[in-house]
Amino acid sequence: MGELLPKLATIPEGIQSAADYLPLARERLLPAVWHYLEEGSGNQVTLHTNNCVFDSIRLIPRPMADVRDGHTRITLFGQTLAHPVILAPLAYQRLYHPHGESASAMAANAQGGQLCVSSLASQTLEEIITAAGQPLWFQLYWQEDRPRTLKLLRRAVTAGYQAIVFTVDAPIKQATIQLPASISAVNLDTPAPFPALLPHQSQVFNGWMAQAPRWEDLAWLRAQTSLPLLVKGILHPEDARKVINLGYDGLVVSNHGGRVLDGAPASLACLPEIVSTVSGRGKVLFDSGIRNGRDIYKALALGADAVLIGRPYIWGLATVGALGVAHVIRLLRDELEMTMALTGTASIREITREKIISDRD
Ligand code: FNR
Repeated sequence: MGELLPKLATIPEGIQSAADYLPLARERLLPAVWHYLEEGSGNQVTLHTNNCVFDSIRLIPRPMADVRDGHTRITLFGQTLAHPVILAPLAYQRLYHPHGESASAMAANAQGGQLCVSSLASQTLEEIITAAGQPLWFQLYWQEDRPRTLKLLRRAVTAGYQAIVFTVDAPIKQATIQLPASISAVNLDTPAPFPALLPHQSQVFNGWMAQAPRWEDLAWLRAQTSLPLLVKGILHPEDARKVINLGYDGLVVSNHGGRVLDGAPASLACLPEIVSTVSGRGKVLFDSGIRNGRDIYKALALGADAVLIGRPYIWGLATVGALGVAHVIRLLRDELEMTMALTGTASIREITREKIISDRD
């Protein structure tokens, strides 16, 4: 095994797109960490589909349009963002760079965007929000029962987090890594002991699923906060309808970056039907597979209000810390602007279904 390269202090020369950070990040991470970051579940069919599906959508060039006042601004839950790119919650960011989540938070702010901090963050919620210099979003994982979940939610609210994203699609922990002693989920209490199973009982049904949230818990959670509250990990329109009917402010169409149910459809394939089901009654965010600004445009054209990116910003983080994260966001935004210009689109609102052709059309 070759030596790990040191982190850089300045943005490397010759980077044209977010994907150019991938090899630089790989050279700077232990193989086990790289594998944990990149892997999908099972045979990685869903992971693969997430990326390929974008190729089935075509962008229609529209020269001569007047886009001189063009911009990528959006307003989401009362906050104006310079662009529709939110950094997705990713666990244990000190695995990738000593500055961890704080670096991602600073970069999100510097680029006029947002970071959703994971329940499994490796720095305290208070430390991260201080580094950010702005309110952030918090991703909530169910903590085995209501009192523990409420305790974590209240801590985030007290720390100043301004929106809550409740992730529901990963009740069974598959992608795991042996964490170094210095890195842990510092915001969580020691987990409740795993239920003792009788010989005839199943680890899945009687173990993990006994500690997973159910619909009645979603209704309960909605009543615990007046902050904007979203559910992350929805792929079925009926689930989207139920979430919105429970009074949630929105949802994230996501298959967790292909890391949970292998064989699940590409997140993008599920987006249009969910958008039409929600029908403006809540925000529909999208993630899983976005790698460049064209992908962002396609997701917005299929009805997403904003997108989250996962692995690509970690490639920047692993290479050059906050600077790398900020650079990845900027590259994505530049590509989005170019795509908008070449398709005659002056604002995010104008990115509509008519701007694209899908192979399904
Ligand atoms: C994740 N994701 C995730 N989601 C979440 O709600 N809480 C978490 O702690 C994590 N942790 C996490 C770790 C790693 C290493 C990865 C790759 C992903 C899922 C994440 O928020 C997002 O849904 C996907 O990463 C989006 O897919 P792309 O952009 O990575 O293709």
